[in-house]
Amino acid sequence: MIFTVAIDGPAAAGKGTISRAVAAHFGFAHLDTGLLYRAVGAKGGDPVMAARALTEADLAREGLRTLEAGQAASRVAVIPEVRAALLDFQRRFARRAGGAVLDGRDIGTVICPEAEVKLYVTASAEVRAHRRWLEVGGDEARVLAEVKERDARDMGRADAPLKAASDAMVIDTSEMAADEAVATALAVVAARLGR
Ligand code: DC
Repeated sequence: MIFTVAIDGPAAAGKGTISRAVAAHFGFAHLDTGLLYRAVGAKGGDPVMAARALTEADLAREGLRTLEAGQAASRVAVIPEVRAALLDFQRRFARRAGGAVLDGRDIGTVICPEAEVKLYVTASAEVRAHRRWLEVGGDEARVLAEVKERDARDMGRADAPLKAASDAMVIDTSEMAADEAVATALAVVAARLGR
């Protein structure tokens, strides 16, 4: 069975939690595509060369979850040649047998416009910054500024900007508990599978 669940949205909206839960529930493979860009940003040197030479080991390196790694990822993600180098891998993953969940910024719009289910998971910048701050600590105002800076870059870039696909279902998690957001997503996928 070929079945793709595309989950897009800004940082810390809850995409990861929802993606992991959907993948576990339906037995689908899961790809956190942000990790690809984080690994490219963390490698240093020429980002295009880094993207072309990316390996599994690069994805497993430590420190990819920090705010700094997120900013570095967002900066290399504006480069069209970096995005092009990562395209085939993501497309093949999306259409692999057995079902796949991919979360990122452009999955429903560019990587897999034919996805069977498209979700756009969002929340206010303040709520997302607060969640991220609970994880990383430090100065909450700085975390909010980082979130806003990354939103502006990810939404404003020319190539594959972050936006909801016209046929995506929007889940705003600003005032939703995680289990409620997960239940909403599971119901959408189950309905599309006819279960
Ligand atoms: O989801 P994340 O926070 O790990 O993503 C890090 C950065 O990578 C994000 O700010 C923009 C970029 N990214 C992208 O451009 N396209 C994707 N599909 C996933 C991430």
